[in-house]
Amino acid sequence: MSAPSWKIRLESPDDGAGVEALNAEGFGPGRFSKSAYRLREGVNAVAGLSFVAVEDGILRGSVRFWPIKVGGHEELLLGPLAVQSHQRGRGIGIALMQAGIAAAQRGPWRGILLVGDEPYYAKVGFSRLPPGRVKFPGPVDQNRILGLSLKAGELLNLSGEVRRAQIDDAVCADGAGVG
Ligand SMILES: CC(C)(COP(=O)(O)OP(=O)(O)OC[C@H]1O[C@@H](n2cnc3c(N)ncnc32)[C@H](O)[C@@H]1OP(=O)(O)O)[C@@H](O)C(=O)NCCC(=O)NCCS
Repeated sequence: MSAPSWKIRLESPDDGAGVEALNAEGFGPGRFSKSAYRLREGVNAVAGLSFVAVEDGILRGSVRFWPIKVGGHEELLLGPLAVQSHQRGRGIGIALMQAGIAAAQRGPWRGILLVGDEPYYAKVGFSRLPPGRVKFPGPVDQNRILGLSLKAGELLNLSGEVRRAQIDDAVCADGAGVG
């Protein structure tokens, strides 16, 4: 198989607008009301874990990871993950996640959580958590809560309430970011 013509690299500050455009295309305006977005409000993505796929100078896809508290411990939330709609099925999403997971394995976290389709995320090692093990804020389909252990055997130690990590930016009383 020939090497892909896209490359994965760390996201740089200049990529911000392009990444926002990918997420708007991938998730639409309803994305801000999702439980996962509530956990990201006012909190910055983890530095060094945001990757983009680039081809001919064009951003094809992006993945970011957010810090979250799970039962009081800081862990990671994968997402958003988005690939340009006409570029899907080329392995870009998997490669982006693999880059992020490999970088996360060098950090202090025990595991990564996400809310998504198990058949897709199982391709990079995620599996369903036992129902009730962790509790996300707001309504979340238990069958879509997935986890990946970053340190051997730690996945089942992830339990409890999932909360926002430290606040980096001021937020309004209703939780919406300001500025
Ligand atoms: C989900 C998404 C990131 C996948 O990106 P991608 O680059 O097309 O994914 P890849 O090419 O790496 O992987 C494609 C493989 O995953 C499978 N796949 C993709 N989405 C899937 C899903 N929701 N459920 C099961 N399998 C899925 C494809 O069938 C394909 O399988 P194959 O390799 O056996 O043919 C992309 O479709 C996207 O941006 N969607 C909109 C945003 C989104 O939903 N993000 C995920 C939030 S849960």
